Amino acid sequence: MTEFQPHSKPCQNRSTKRTIPNVSKRVEVSLVSANNQMEWWEKDGGVKFLKEAGLSSEQKILDFGCRVGHYTIPAAKAVGNKGIVYAVDKESDSLNELSRKITSHNLTNVRITKTSGQMKLPLENEVIDVVLLYDVLHYFGAEERMMLYHEAFRVLKQSGLLSVYPKHTADDSPLMELQHFRSTDIEREILRSGFRFERRYYGVISHDDGLNKGCVLNFRKFVGKP
Ligand SMILES: C[S@@+](CC[C@H](N)C(=O)[O-])C[C@H]1O[C@@H](n2cnc3c(N)ncnc32)[C@H](O)[C@@H]1O
Repeated sequence: MTEFQPHSKPCQNRSTKRTIPNVSKRVEVSLVSANNQMEWWEKDGGVKFLKEAGLSSEQKILDFGCRVGHYTIPAAKAVGNKGIVYAVDKESDSLNELSRKITSHNLTNVRITKTSGQMKLPLENEVIDVVLLYDVLHYFGAEERMMLYHEAFRVLKQSGLLSVYPKHTADDSPLMELQHFRSTDIEREILRSGFRFERRYYGVISHDDGLNKGCVLNFRKFVGKP
């Protein structure tokens, strides 16, 4: 059974109880300690998930709102030594923890950037293959989200991938700025920023310091006539 499945229905919150591979056997998520889950995720599950999401070797990735790197670490493994992951956050403590993890995973291809929370990033135009906006949109009101999409569009190469995990919408643990938005509303606002919808899929993915069933939306930067 594959863990990550393309999915044609809207994102929905589903049960968190399911099986994940754990080195030598399959065990129930609910029985695995949080540490073991995240160890598995960063070494194995997350790498497979991100490759399925569209990451490949030698790419340049922007992980905006990376926190302690539950997506940064597997992204760095997915793109390999010739790729780069730009990990951006505004919280020093999280980035210090990420820095420790980069060392312990022997990674040399992660560039950490601490910002003051601004949307404008110190990256040239059209240098990034994939932008990850995972579990971060709920921090921003509509205007800031549009600024973020425009910044993603600016830094992405032509046909680059914008991959979004819109956690905390009305259909998935509503919280903060997204509590009254459905994932389909997020999809629509991203389309208004010049992206083309590519696909959505769901699976067991990282959230905070554990795993849950989540739904990811993929878009392509579109340049040219509609
Ligand atoms: C819920 S965490 C998600 C972390 C990670 N993407 C993941 O899914 O594991 C959201 C992160 O976004 C960061 N964040 C929020 N607003 C930000 C901003 N304006 N600029 C940079 N990072 C921001 C927070 O500091 C936090 O670390």
